[in-house]
Amino acid sequence: MRAAAPPLAGRCILMKDNHMTDLCRIGVAISGDLLEKFDKLIAQRGYTNRSEAFRDLIRNELVQETWKSSDSEVFGTVTLVYDHHARLLPEKLTELQHHYHTAVLSALHVHLDHDNCLEVVLVKGKAALVQKLSNALIAIKGVKHGRFTVTTSGHDLP
Ligand code: NI
Repeated sequence: MRAAAPPLAGRCILMKDNHMTDLCRIGVAISGDLLEKFDKLIAQRGYTNRSEAFRDLIRNELVQETWKSSDSEVFGTVTLVYDHHARLLPEKLTELQHHYHTAVLSALHVHLDHDNCLEVVLVKGKAALVQKLSNALIAIKGVKHGRFTVTTSGHDLP
């Protein structure tokens, strides 16, 4: 017996201007209060319609999910603010980035004022490795603020 063709589960085909598009229309039940807050938020963020805001929320959740699989390939940035006079801090930063050189794509350094530096390190690699590097950078003594942001190559994201 031949296997049946896979069902089109979850796929929607809509006609738009006489062309088929792979777009699904869904209805979402939401309280008036919540919707009002949502509309206010997305207006502040510059969205002109709810659909794009919903899609971005979903994409963000999907990116966060890939992050949980330590084997997936991710891109990210590590943002650091530090006083470059802090003892051995610049040396440790350089040493770590050399140690994890396969995961470091680029780094941007800005001298904020006489003492403070802003550094953004662009990283790429297996989630577990990139996380390790970012934790190590942020944990260096003298780093005043550190933030790791994960993103995606975009391949698997419609
Ligand atoms: Ni500097």
